[in-house]
Amino acid sequence: MQIDVLTLFPAMFEGPMTESMLWKARDRNLLDLRLHDIRDYALDKHKSADDIPYGGGGGMIMKAEPVALAVEAALAGAPAGTPVILMTPQGRVFSHDIAKELAQHEQIIMVCGRYEGIDDRVRQLIATDELSIGDYVLTGGELPAMVIIDAVIRHIPGVLGAEGAADADSHADGILEGPHFTRPPEWRGVSVPQVLQDGDHAKVAKWRREQGLRRTWQQRPDLLMTAELTEDERYLLATFANEDAGKNPHP
Ligand SMILES: C[S@@+](CC[C@H](N)C(=O)[O-])C[C@H]1O[C@@H](n2cnc3c(N)ncnc32)[C@H](O)[C@@H]1O
Repeated sequence: MQIDVLTLFPAMFEGPMTESMLWKARDRNLLDLRLHDIRDYALDKHKSADDIPYGGGGGMIMKAEPVALAVEAALAGAPAGTPVILMTPQGRVFSHDIAKELAQHEQIIMVCGRYEGIDDRVRQLIATDELSIGDYVLTGGELPAMVIIDAVIRHIPGVLGAEGAADADSHADGILEGPHFTRPPEWRGVSVPQVLQDGDHAKVAKWRREQGLRRTWQQRPDLLMTAELTEDERYLLATFANEDAGKNPHP
């Protein structure tokens, strides 16, 4: 997969994009990350990529032209339908499902804003999508782009060690993952659940699903509104609710 990132601060990507899984993905040619310095596409002699806002107010605005030229350069030879994604706190909120959807593309282009943002005509005429990483405002789109890249590449086959591991993670099927343990079997008075130590795979899978449901019930009950659950799982949720109310039907 090719990911083109358009930014005024390409050096910010050193470190996060050159370590661990990101490095492995690049080393195995599963990720071709291309950083484009938007300033290289500024045509005036001062290479200015920003200007004062029409209508007054504080802060500078990134100019449309350098961003447009950088996008056009990144799009040269790109497959039809390559998304041009604007990083913005005003976009649809990034999620597991969007990460999976983006991982299907051969190429994506990500545009990082700075200052007060980018001249809106880039949004109107060039961007095909707008993504936010949450309802708060950061100083630039570089960290959001890195967050999104990290989440997307986990869905490229071959990037993670165990194929399909991302499918067992939290949010993959609408609920959270249950707890994990490693050795020793007892630590500070807390034992690893016996079912995990016994090695019965079917029982472990059932326990994990139940623990995932329990954790979702405790931490993110809102997710249960849309999660696909079996009748048995709905019954289990009812027992959690009864337990919370101090009326455990199975004492
Ligand atoms: C200071 S912000 C501009 C915020 C803008 N004035 C507003 O109120 O919507 C500068 C840049 O950071 C990036 N950014 C900030 N918060 C973000 C978020 N939650 N998700 C994605 N990008 C974000 C965007 O690229 C944005 O253009």
